[in-house]
Amino acid sequence: MNNIKTIPLKIAGVGYCVPETVVTNDDLTKLYDTSDEWIYSRTGIKERRLVSGNESAVDLGAKAAEHAIAKSGLKAEDIDMVISASSAPPELYPAIGCRIQAHLGIPNDVPAFDITAACSGLIYALSIAKGFIGSGMYKTILLVATDNNSRLLNWEDRSASILFGDGAGAMVVTASDDGVDDIISIDIRANGAIGDLIKLPLAGKNCPLVEPNTEEPQFIEMNGKEVYKFVARVLPHYVEEMVEKAGMKAEEIDYLIPHQANLRIIQAVQERLGYSDDKVVTNIKYYGNTSAASIPLALAEGVEKGNVKLPSTAILCGFGAGMTWGGAIVRLREGIC
Ligand code: UT7
Repeated sequence: MNNIKTIPLKIAGVGYCVPETVVTNDDLTKLYDTSDEWIYSRTGIKERRLVSGNESAVDLGAKAAEHAIAKSGLKAEDIDMVISASSAPPELYPAIGCRIQAHLGIPNDVPAFDITAACSGLIYALSIAKGFIGSGMYKTILLVATDNNSRLLNWEDRSASILFGDGAGAMVVTASDDGVDDIISIDIRANGAIGDLIKLPLAGKNCPLVEPNTEEPQFIEMNGKEVYKFVARVLPHYVEEMVEKAGMKAEEIDYLIPHQANLRIIQAVQERLGYSDDKVVTNIKYYGNTSAASIPLALAEGVEKGNVKLPSTAILCGFGAGMTWGGAIVRLREGIC
């Protein structure tokens, strides 16, 4: 892709949304034997936001998308494709993308669909958008990464449920009108051979006429230790290599905006790049791991809070179930959030 002449892509707007309900580590001690000290020292998480009542990833995603569209200076009518990335959707179909299309009044004949790349979802969606915009097939694409993990966790499983939170991030990308490509480099990877490390089986029951007629549980299942070992081995080297392949030096890039899964993993990437703390965007302390939403949420909130100055450049990188991983080096223009 990088060697083929394509239409450049502009990141026109970003947005985020988190639920109002805050659940702290201390609150979780009411559910099982754990402590703030155990959770914070291993993950960097103090609290997370969780959906309540009928609130779902669709509501969060729609609000994040509204903000991103407003910031882009475009209108819902200008969107000609919606790609939603989710690892914990409220329903398998209709796609979240279709729900958000209807919710926001995006023209009702444009394609809208979901992709499953778990916490790498935003990078995968951006890569797909780059292909569609680059080839001239579509001009303006809304990317929405949104998850309601809390509805799909086993709240008796203290090793997985401490980690996740709910949230959404969105990005509007469009054909660039000044010839500048905001995607300096992008790459996506997967290794399905280790797919069982994190999974969310759909609860299903065989037809009553067949044997055995079993029912599976439906919860996020994670082998945390093995995920940690895999990511700590692969990600720092991968990000370093991505910078090299882009013909850049780490110090030429302003920020690292990583998937917020575990502060220790983020610090391992930070160390490899030789970055000081002010170059690394982290909000895991307040939101936990919001899966696909985590990168655009960190980006949009980072800009809003002034931790990410504009214009600037950033490395986005993520990993998650699949196992999938991916990264992008992007330009962040003035006014995107
Ligand atoms: O986007 C998704 C990507 N996922 C990740 O990045 C997850 C990466 N992995 C991790 O962050 C870590 O594996 C965890 C934070 C999830 C868990 O930390 P760990 O050091 O790997 O803990 P462990 O599961 O190996 O458990 C160690 C001990 C066990 O006790 P014993 O058997 O040594 O007596 C667990 O029962 O800690 C116990 N434990 C807990 N204790 C208090 C597990 N969960 C808890 C808990 N509170 N919440």
